[in-house]
Amino acid sequence: MQILVAGGAGYIGSHTCTALLEAGHRVIAADNLCNSKAETIIKVEHIAGKDMVFYEIDVTDTASVDTVFANHEIDGVIHFAGFKAVGESVEKPLDYYYNNIVSTMVLSRACMKYGVGKFVFSSSATVYGENQVPFVETMDLLPTTNPYGETKAVSERILTDAARANPGFKVSLLRYFNPVGAHESGLIGESPNGIPNNLMPFITQVVKGKLDRLQIFGNDYPTIDGTGVRDYIHVMDLAEGHVSALDHLTEGVHIYNLGTGQGTSVLQLVRAFEEAIGVEVPFEIVTRRPGDIAECYADVSKAQEELGWTARRDIIAMCRDAWRFENSYSD
Ligand code: NAD
Ligand code: UFG
Repeated sequence: MQILVAGGAGYIGSHTCTALLEAGHRVIAADNLCNSKAETIIKVEHIAGKDMVFYEIDVTDTASVDTVFANHEIDGVIHFAGFKAVGESVEKPLDYYYNNIVSTMVLSRACMKYGVGKFVFSSSATVYGENQVPFVETMDLLPTTNPYGETKAVSERILTDAARANPGFKVSLLRYFNPVGAHESGLIGESPNGIPNNLMPFITQVVKGKLDRLQIFGNDYPTIDGTGVRDYIHVMDLAEGHVSALDHLTEGVHIYNLGTGQGTSVLQLVRAFEEAIGVEVPFEIVTRRPGDIAECYADVSKAQEELGWTARRDIIAMCRDAWRFENSYSD
């Protein structure tokens, strides 16, 4: 198939382009590079040993998106393009609502206009809010406490309504848990701007000596050791999940959790990193981060049964690959 990957130069998008090329698909990436670099596209081509087409465009711009659809016979769209920082979304709600929702509107309308029948969307476990773990796809979505989460819930709604009204439009809504790690080559990975918000890049930067020590946000949660529990998933497993979702996409709307189903606490991740790399991770316990929940992990049985997909890489591989990338890229 020929797949348009919106946000294809970004963290999850670039790994998914690699997986798509390796699975034999042709890839057109579209990205405005607001949170990524053009050289990532060249690295993806190098890893896969195949070329892809790249458009530096903003996918909220209807005319630019129209040009891409007019120039290529597109079979499916994977939509990664969006802003993703929860804290920033509270500061800049209108930017988040505009970018994340208008991009979904523009891409799905182009699909209608050009008869493109497959759409895979990057949603997030954040839509489950404070439901009881493990999170199951059938649960009611709980209002999230931040605009970012709302943009995911609204985009899910828009795509669901579009699929109901247009039976040829097949939609897969993928709810990611906590993507970490990097491609095994060390060529592509996650390189956040400034001080990282997320745990894994924070740990790698502490061990690299860029940051002093890890702050663990709270050790008084009702969890195994008091620290927050998350379902970390290797970004290449996540990338392969997208290929499976595309391959198995049938009529209607399908929602899948993409996680491992395993909860790991902050302290357990720190210990796994120390074991994988053979270093000590200096840390201190500080107060809880506002908005954090105690536990977030997936029930992954639906993706296993319907997509034949399961996450294969363990927490040690996630740490090792994150560290390899931290060591190989220069700021
Ligand atoms: P990322 O920022 O690395 O990638 C997003 C890419 O989209 C970037 O390359 C950026 O330049 C591009 N982009 C943003 N707005 C655009 C626009 N209007 N037009 C064209 N390009 C645009 O983020 P990521 O971690 O790869 O996340 C990808 C998607 O997955 C996002 O929608 C995010 O909300 C979702 N998601 C991420 C996580 C996570 O923890 N990383 C978890 C759940 C869901
Ligand atoms: N944490 C620390 N110290 C840090 C950073 C994080 O203790 O410096 C803790 C958090 O309190 C939490 C855990 O590590 O318990 C994971 O935090 P992350 O910031 O890495 O990830 P979140 O679970 O908060 O959020 C991520 C993405 C969201 C997405 C969500 C889906 O950032 O965009 O996963 O589960 F919606």
